[in-house]
This record gives sequence, structure tokens and C-alpha cells, in this order.
Amino acid sequence: MIEDGKDKTSIMKVDVRNPEEVKKMIDSTIKKHGRIDILIVNAGVVRVGPVESFPDDDYNLLIDVNLKGTHYTCKYAVPYFKKQKSGSIITLASVAAHIGQVAHANYCSTKAGVLGYTRALALDLAPYNVRVNSVSPGATDTPMLQSDVAKQARDRGVSYEEVKKEFEKEGVLGRWATPEEIATGILFLATEESSYITGADLRIDGGWTTQ
Ligand SMILES: NC(=O)c1ccc[n+]([C@@H]2O[C@H](COP(=O)([O-])OP(=O)(O)OC[C@H]3O[C@@H](n4cnc5c(N)ncnc54)[C@H](O)[C@@H]3O)[C@@H](O)[C@H]2O)c1
Repeated sequence: MIEDGKDKTSIMKVDVRNPEEVKKMIDSTIKKHGRIDILIVNAGVVRVGPVESFPDDDYNLLIDVNLKGTHYTCKYAVPYFKKQKSGSIITLASVAAHIGQVAHANYCSTKAGVLGYTRALALDLAPYNVRVNSVSPGATDTPMLQSDVAKQARDRGVSYEEVKKEFEKEGVLGRWATPEEIATGILFLATEESSYITGADLRIDGGWTTQ
């Protein structure tokens, strides 16, 4: 049973690249709510392009947000999880952690890193009854994918619709996921419905990586 938490909600704007801001977010959550039951490490960015001309700024951004941001968010929450001896952490990997994608070498490397981080952290936290899992979405209709498709269309001199169709064909279901279809999987890993699952990756990719 999931209680409506609207009256218990706090919102903070935080840059996950900044460890001090992340620590403040975690500490103030504990101060206000007393505990953290579920941590969803969702913040991510995508930058695409051939490695030989990949801008250093884009490379640093991928590392800073996708890898360091994941680490900082877990780092400052883990002591509380260990103390309370319960909870669920869910990170966001990607199909890009499992397979190669054209012009995505650097994004793929960060998401494969998230997968390794998640598996290892699951081992560290298992003795504390804290579960750690990842979700690997396929093509999901959010601003991230829309901007990725728009850039590829620009770079290749083809239309947005043409690139979108290519992405839709990747999953055997032949369409993009809705954000809600990814959220449902995250919710499953957050609740006791998944009480015996840790160190796992849930691929919600419309069959993309089964082919
Ligand atoms: N959309 C897809 O097709 C897809 C596929 C695989 C994985 N993912 C992953 O799912 C997660 C959510 O992506 P999305 O599709 O909703 O993308 P999105 O761009 O719509 O949302 C990403 C969110 O991350 C936040 N963010 C970015 N940099 C940040 C920073 N430095 N500090 C704090 N927040 C920051 C943005 O403000 C935004 O709210 C990401 O980790 C992404 O890599 C998405």
C-alpha cells in the first residue's frame, strides 16, 4: 500500500555535480523526514558524436553528471541507509549500458559504469538489508531522447521523423516507451514487491536488447 505523500513532499533544486549541494539535499531530507526509504538516482545527460571530434566539455559533462552525480547521490545517502537497515536504491542505466549505439561511445561508457557501480554497491549494502538495483530504459519519449534525435537529424542532414523511425524500430515492440512505462518498473524496485531482488538490472526497452 503506497500512501499519498503530497503533504510530506519537499522539493530542492540541486546540481548533482556539486557534492556539497547533494550532501545538503540528503541531510535536509533526513532532518525533515527522519529517514530515506527510497533513493532514485535519475539525473542524467546525453551527448552524442564521433569520438575524434567529441568536445571535452561534453565528455566532462557526461562523466560529471552520469557517473560522479550517481556516486555523490549514493555517497551521502548510504550512511543513513546503513543506519536504518532498510531501503531501496534505484539507479538509471540504459540500453546503452548493454549494447553499442552509433555515435554514443561516451554516453555508453558512463551508463555501463552506472551498471557496474550498482552491482558492486548492492554487495556492500546487502548486509544492511538495503537493496540496490538499476533500470535500463530503451527509447523513452522524454526531452532527452527528443534532443538526441534532433541533434542526430541535424548532424546527418535527415529529418527528425526519419531518425525517430530508426529508434522506434530498435525495440521489437516498434515504438518508444512512455515515461510512465519506465516509472512503473522503478516503482516495482522501490517497493516490497521486489523484496528478493538486489544487484539486478531491469531492462524496460521494448525488446531492444533481446535481439
Ligand atoms: N529518454 C531515454 O530514452 C532514456 C533511455 C535510457 C536511459 N535514460 C536515462 O533515464 C534518466 C532520465 O532521463 P530522461 O529521459 O527523463 O531525460 P530528461 O533530460 O528528460 O531528464 C533528465 C533530468 O536530469 C536532470 N539533470 C541533468 N543534469 C543535472 C544535474 N547536473 N543535476 C541535477 N539534475 C540534472 C534534468 O534537469 C532533467 O530533469 C537519465 O539518467 C537517462 O540517462 C533515458
